[in-house]
Amino acid sequence: MRGRFVALEGVDGSGKTTHAAMLADALRAGGREVVAVREPGGTALGEGVRALLLDGGDLSPWTEALLFAAARAQLVQEVIRPALAAGRWVVADRFVHSSLAYQGAARGLGVDAVWAVNAPGVDGCLPDLVAVLDIDPAEAAARGRGRRRAADRIEREGEALQRAVAAGYLALIEREPQRVVAVPAHGSTAEVHERLMAAVGALA
Ligand code: TMP
Repeated sequence: MRGRFVALEGVDGSGKTTHAAMLADALRAGGREVVAVREPGGTALGEGVRALLLDGGDLSPWTEALLFAAARAQLVQEVIRPALAAGRWVVADRFVHSSLAYQGAARGLGVDAVWAVNAPGVDGCLPDLVAVLDIDPAEAAARGRGRRRAADRIEREGEALQRAVAAGYLALIEREPQRVVAVPAHGSTAEVHERLMAAVGALA
């Protein structure tokens, strides 16, 4: 049987990375085989593109969108599709809905236009569930400041971009409510994890 594919999404600082790891651990504890991936990255090519995207200098919005799409196409081909075909679960820390929210909505390239350049590489390999950790961008930014690593190029653009990203995710939830759901990210880490497990439970 094909495995299941769950993507975690949200503004920067929403807690996705923590929750992706907790979800993968919980699924493994329940006896599933899980492959965890992060975007951009997850392959040798993708990690190289990640460095260009996040640590490099200025990029035009379309250059940025196409680099994310290129890294994603490789991740689908090399990791995600084979894992699903082998019956494994895939937990992704971001996937194509990040490009739709950041490049399509927030950068103004257009959700349909950004989807169009991603669709050939995604090649039908869409998540069964896209869980958007829903948090006020100001609260997320405050959490981000508490982290030890330095902010990357996109995070440094500040709260206006993150607000536009949050609005972009809300529009994606409205557009595709069967696949894309909001998971309220307020409260303790354990509470958010429970909400996420409840959303994922519907897939099992
Ligand atoms: P991360 O901090 O979750 O690892 O994500 C890296 C940054 O890249 C984050 O600011 C979101 C951004 N991003 C996009 O703008 N578009 C995309 O398609 C992806 C995957 C990430």
